Amino acid sequence: MKAIVAKAYGGPEVLSVAEIARPQIRDNEVLVKIYASAVTQADVMMRTGTPWFGRAFLGWRKPKAPVPGTAFAGKIVEVGKAVTRFKLGDDVFGETSIGFATHAQFVSVPEDGVVETIPMTMSYEDAAPVTDGALTSHNFLTRLVNIQPGQKVLINGAAGGLGTSAVQLAKHLGAEVTAVASGRNAEFLRELGADHVIDYRREDFTQRRGAYDVIFDTVGKVPFSKAKQALKSDGVYLSPVLGLGLLFTMLWTREFGRQKAKFSATGLLPHAELRVRLGEVRALIEDGALRTVIDRRYELDAVAEAHRYVESGHKRGNVVLEITHADVAVLAA
Ligand SMILES: NC(=O)c1ccc[n+]([C@@H]2O[C@H](COP(=O)([O-])OP(=O)(O)OC[C@H]3O[C@@H](n4cnc5c(N)ncnc54)[C@H](OP(=O)(O)O)[C@@H]3O)[C@@H](O)[C@H]2O)c1
Repeated sequence: MKAIVAKAYGGPEVLSVAEIARPQIRDNEVLVKIYASAVTQADVMMRTGTPWFGRAFLGWRKPKAPVPGTAFAGKIVEVGKAVTRFKLGDDVFGETSIGFATHAQFVSVPEDGVVETIPMTMSYEDAAPVTDGALTSHNFLTRLVNIQPGQKVLINGAAGGLGTSAVQLAKHLGAEVTAVASGRNAEFLRELGADHVIDYRREDFTQRRGAYDVIFDTVGKVPFSKAKQALKSDGVYLSPVLGLGLLFTMLWTREFGRQKAKFSATGLLPHAELRVRLGEVRALIEDGALRTVIDRRYELDAVAEAHRYVESGHKRGNVVLEITHADVAVLAA
């Protein structure tokens, strides 16, 4: 099968297309023929091997897992003898977490992994990125905080993968939502459900003293020490971007003061827990409360270009890898 391989840490040029063996499934696994994957900020971090402490999981000198990618959407084409949750032909989506291997035509997935059937009305392309932005923002906004109707929630980085999901989720939970992005995204964010939009190039939101119950800095651009000015006295600051500063702040605010700072490494939660949450996200998609925003699509061969674009830090929503198969091309001809 065709797959992307990364033989070293480095720039997008370390990624190349290779012909490798198709995975063999175990009794508890299914083989998914992948039609779409996503290129995410996490994929960029894994490619570059940064931050360095991540190499404890990824491999010190080079990636332990040669095929990158964690998100997938596709069709089940083989079912292990012990599998009961899925059948041949099911359309499924999910993530492999630190198992990687989804920037490829096929991946093997345990049935008790982070995998669910795709909602009827959803395309493979819309389904593939759900485990990045939507699942993460859902974790932050429903588990780390308990948003109540009428609460004031500010989403920084609102036009990104996490941000576009967070705006929709916060709105769905009944919050008054303020979205922060550059001016070019203002209209788009209003259409997505934001009540107010702030252009970070024109206004520093932290000057809005004591305004918000929750600030979700999805891109980790504004530290707690600054953001807290704009929080209510018992407000919560959320960030998915861990550094030593945030780690210290989390530990400190857990013990002292009423304002709290919180982080979670969503992809490292136990698979059973993530599967339950993916089911909840799936239900929101089926109800029409949440949709995937796709910015650009790339073919598998253009993965380096996709990485360059994601690394620019200005994607709108998600970047998708379209994965084709020779038999599909023959059928379409
Ligand atoms: N902890 C976890 O579980 C977890 C899980 C997944 C991802 N993450 C992390 O979450 C972070 C965000 O990921 P993502 O995919 O949402 O990022 P992303 O899509 O690449 O973010 C891009 C967006 O950020 C906005 N942006 C750039 N600079 C900004 C600034 N100074 N202020 C406000 N907005 C700004 C851009 O808007 P404009 O173009 O309008 O500037 C753009 O739409 C990454 O660091 C990722 O590694 C963590």
